[in-house]
Amino acid sequence: MTHLLHLDSSARSRSFSRTLTALCAEAWRAAHPGAAYTYRDLVAGPVPPIGEAWTEICDHLLTHQITDIPRYAEAVTTPARRAAWATVEPLLAELVSADVVLIGAPMYNYSIPAALKAWIDQVTFPRMDLTGRAFVVASARGGSYQPGTPKEPFDHQERYLRDFFAGHYGVTDVTFVTTELTNARVDPVLDDLRERQDASHRAAVARVEALTTRFGGAVAGGAASLGSQTGDGTSLSTQAGDGASPGTQTGHGASLASLPGGAAIPSAALGGGA
Ligand SMILES: Cc1cc2nc3c(=O)[nH]c(=O)nc-3n(C[C@H](O)[C@H](O)[C@H](O)COP(=O)(O)O)c2cc1C
Repeated sequence: MTHLLHLDSSARSRSFSRTLTALCAEAWRAAHPGAAYTYRDLVAGPVPPIGEAWTEICDHLLTHQITDIPRYAEAVTTPARRAAWATVEPLLAELVSADVVLIGAPMYNYSIPAALKAWIDQVTFPRMDLTGRAFVVASARGGSYQPGTPKEPFDHQERYLRDFFAGHYGVTDVTFVTTELTNARVDPVLDDLRERQDASHRAAVARVEALTTRFGGAVAGGAASLGSQTGDGTSLSTQAGDGASPGTQTGHGASLASLPGGAAIPSAALGGGA
C-alpha cells in the first residue's frame, strides 16, 4: 500500500502552506510513480460540520464497543445516519488507506482553520488507531511562535495537532515544516521583519526539499523514517484539483498548483493574510 492523502485548508488559493504542500506532493509523486494520490481541498470542497446523526453513529460505536473501522457501518441504521455516513465514508476511506497524510494548515486565531477542524471532526471516532501512518503538516503563520518568543504560549496550532494525532490516533510520526512571520509581507508595520520572513520561508522550502528526499525513501520502505522533526518552524502542505466532488482529486496526473520557481513565492501569493 502506497498512498498519499493531501489536504489543504488555507482560505487563499495561492498561499504559503499550499505552496509547501504542493512541493512536497510533487516530490512524493515523482518518487512513487503509479502510487495512489488523493487530493482534497477543504476550502474548494468544504466538509460540512458534523450533525446529530453523526453523534448517533458515534454513540452507537461506544455503546456497542465497536472499534474496528470496517465495522463502523454497523452503526448506520437509520435514514438520517445513512445520510451522515455518506459524508463520512469516503473521507474515512481516504484516511485509512493512506500511508502518508500531508496537511496544509495555516494558523488561524492561534489554532487551525475551521475547514480543517470540520474534516477532523468528521473522520474521528472513539479509540481510533492509525498507527503506522506518517503525518506531515505544512504550517504558515503571520507571527512567530518560536521557543522564547512572547507568543510561544499561544501556539495552539502545532501543539493541538501533535497532541491530537498522538493522543487520539496514536500517531507520533508527525513532521512540521513551518514558515513564520508571513504578515511581514503585507503589513507595513512589520517592515523590519521582512528579512526574517524571507529567511524563514527560504528555510522552509529547503526543509521541504530535504524532507521530501527522505519522504520518498521513507514511503517506499515504511513511514517510520519520516518522523524527524525539522525544528526550524517550517511545515509542509499540498494542493490538488477536482475529481468527482469539488475540491477532491484521486489518482494520477492530478493538476497540482503550479509552483513558484525555487524558494521564491510570487507576490500574488502574499496579497492576503490576516
Ligand atoms: C482568519 C485568519 C486568522 C489568522 N490568525 C492568525 C494568528 O492567530 N496568528 C498568526 O500568527 N497569524 C494569523 N493569521 C495569519 C496567517 O497565519 C498567515 O497569513 C498565513 O500565512 C496563512 O497561511 P497561508 O499563507 O497558507 O494562507 C491569520 C490569518 C487569517 C486569514
